[in-house]
Amino acid sequence: MRFRKKPWAQNELDTNRRFVPDPGEYKGKWNQRFENANPIYAEIGCGRGRFVVRMAEETPGANFVAVERDRKVIVTGARAARERGLNIAFISGDAGCLAEWFGAGEIDRIFINFCDPWPNKNKWAKRRLTHQNYLNIYKKILKSGGSLHFKTDNPGLFEFSINQFSDNGWRLRNVTFDLHRAKNLPQLDADARIMTEYEEKYAERGLPIYRLEASVLSGDKVPGIRADTRYAPTALRKTLPDVTLVQCNI
Ligand SMILES: C[S@@+](CC[C@H](N)C(=O)[O-])C[C@H]1O[C@@H](n2cnc3c(N)ncnc32)[C@H](O)[C@@H]1O
Repeated sequence: MRFRKKPWAQNELDTNRRFVPDPGEYKGKWNQRFENANPIYAEIGCGRGRFVVRMAEETPGANFVAVERDRKVIVTGARAARERGLNIAFISGDAGCLAEWFGAGEIDRIFINFCDPWPNKNKWAKRRLTHQNYLNIYKKILKSGGSLHFKTDNPGLFEFSINQFSDNGWRLRNVTFDLHRAKNLPQLDADARIMTEYEEKYAERGLPIYRLEASVLSGDKVPGIRADTRYAPTALRKTLPDVTLVQCNI
């Protein structure tokens, strides 16, 4: 691939040790690569990496992996991480390969931010990063007790995702339909506050941001409320003005 608009990009990818061209080599051994036993957080579809760079700046006690299939954008994040000396490994590839790169239970937390909504539901639903096919992959690499944090501006995708998580046996907590305006939110992790590049654009336009945290059920002893409410898209939109937070205390 040639980088016509970024003449520096190929050299950056060739020389930046944070860029991992052969992620499968570290399967089951990522903590050795990071040279510590700290938790590993992975962002899927990181784009230009603004979020993961800020997260790594604020969370020095964690290791970060950023996955993005478009090399033209991931290179910007890899450069920023190198310049700031941050602990992030960048992987250019498709999320469908995650189980080839990471061993069972190797990841503590997954972030999915503003993934493509693929609006034609019947034709493209399988491409959504919250489709059950992807959730099954995330389950394999997530540690027991690990979680997935998801943000989007798209109510249709949010509704779809709630039901995919539910059908796939995940538990949902801290579900909010208007992250930055909700008044009764509990103390959330830094990722709720740190805005991605897309999020900043949507938030500036006054659009609500939807967010949830999902964790995999382990046996049937985990207490909590399963998110099995099925919303028709129109019903969900009608509900929005009144519902700022559906919190399932686990
Ligand atoms: C709409 S952008 C959002 C970027 C960033 N997360 C943000 O919020 O600013 C979605 C990104 O996900 C990437 N992406 C989509 N599907 C992917 C997949 N299957 N594997 C890896 N990256 C993917 C796209 O290339 C794109 O950069």
